Amino acid sequence: MNTRSTTVRAFAAASIGNFSVGFDVLGMALEPLEGAPLGDVVEVSLASDKQDRLHMKGEFCAFLPIATEANLVWHCLLEFRQIAEFPPLTITLYKNLPVGSGLGSSACSIVAAAAAINAYIGSPLEKTALLELCGRLEGEVSGSVHLDNVAPSLLGGLVMCAVDDCQQLPVSPDWQLVIAYSGEQISTHTMRAILPASFAPGLVLKQMAWLHEFIAAGQSSDWQLAASKVQDFLAEPLRAPLIKGYLTAQRTCLEIGAEAVGISGSGPTLFAICNSKTAPSVAAWLERNYSINSSAFTRICRPRLTPVTIEYL
Ligand code: HSE
Repeated sequence: MNTRSTTVRAFAAASIGNFSVGFDVLGMALEPLEGAPLGDVVEVSLASDKQDRLHMKGEFCAFLPIATEANLVWHCLLEFRQIAEFPPLTITLYKNLPVGSGLGSSACSIVAAAAAINAYIGSPLEKTALLELCGRLEGEVSGSVHLDNVAPSLLGGLVMCAVDDCQQLPVSPDWQLVIAYSGEQISTHTMRAILPASFAPGLVLKQMAWLHEFIAAGQSSDWQLAASKVQDFLAEPLRAPLIKGYLTAQRTCLEIGAEAVGISGSGPTLFAICNSKTAPSVAAWLERNYSINSSAFTRICRPRLTPVTIEYL
C-alpha cells in the first residue's frame, strides 16, 4: 500500500495507433509542441465512506457511459481487486480526450487508471503484467486485443508490440506530427467489424515488407525513406472512404508538403508527418477544412518519449 501520499495522479498520453505501416502492432505516443498535454488523467485516493467510488470529470466525460459498472476505469479497478487486497478507493477520471476519435482515447483512460491504482497500492504489477492487463481491457472495447495504443501510452515513444513483447523504435528528431480530429465520433469496434476476417497473403507480405523497410530505415536514421514507408495497405483502403473528408484532406496535406499522411488508429483523426517548415501550413489547412463540428481540433505534436507519468500528491 502507498504510504507516501494521500493521492496518486497518473497522466497517459494520446497515441497514433497503427502508425499506418504497422496495423495493430505499431503506435506512437504524442506530445503537443504547445499548449495543454493531450491525454487523460486519473487520480486515486482512499475512499472516505468505505466504498469504491468513481467520479468522472473533464471536457468529454459526458460521452462516457452513465453507469459506473460500464466504465473501463471501473473494470480496471475490479481487475486489481482480483490481484491484491486494498481498502476502498475514490477514483477520479479526467476525460480530456474525445471518445471514438482515433487518438487511443480508451487506452489513455485504461493506462492512466491502471498506472495510478497500481502505484497507489504499492505496485504489485510489473510493466509486462500491467501491459497485459491494459491490453485485455482495451480488447473489451474494440472486440480484440491490440496493444498499439496501450503500449505507447504506457511506455512512451514509437512502440512495436506483439502480444508479449514490446520494443521502442528510434524516432526522427525532426518529425512533427500534425494531428487533426474532425469531431466525428467513430467506434473502433465498428471500424474493426468492416475488416475481413483475414487478408490475402500477398497483401500481408507486402505490408510486412514495408514495415521491415520502415524499421530498417529508422535504424539507419534515413528518415525520408522511413516516412515514405508509412502506408497502410490493409485497413486504410477499407476505412478511408467511410471517414468524412479524409481522402481530400490526405491528398491536400501531401500537396502542401507532408511526407506521409494516414488515419490515426481507426479514425477519424488524421496524422501527417511533417517538419518544422511544413507543419504550420498543413495544420492551418486542416484547422480550416477537416472539421465537422466544434469538437474538432488540430495540434502539432512531437513523439512523447516518456512513459505514463505518476505523481504522488
Ligand atoms: N489498431 C487498432 C485499429 C487501433 O486500427 O483497429 C484502434 O485505435
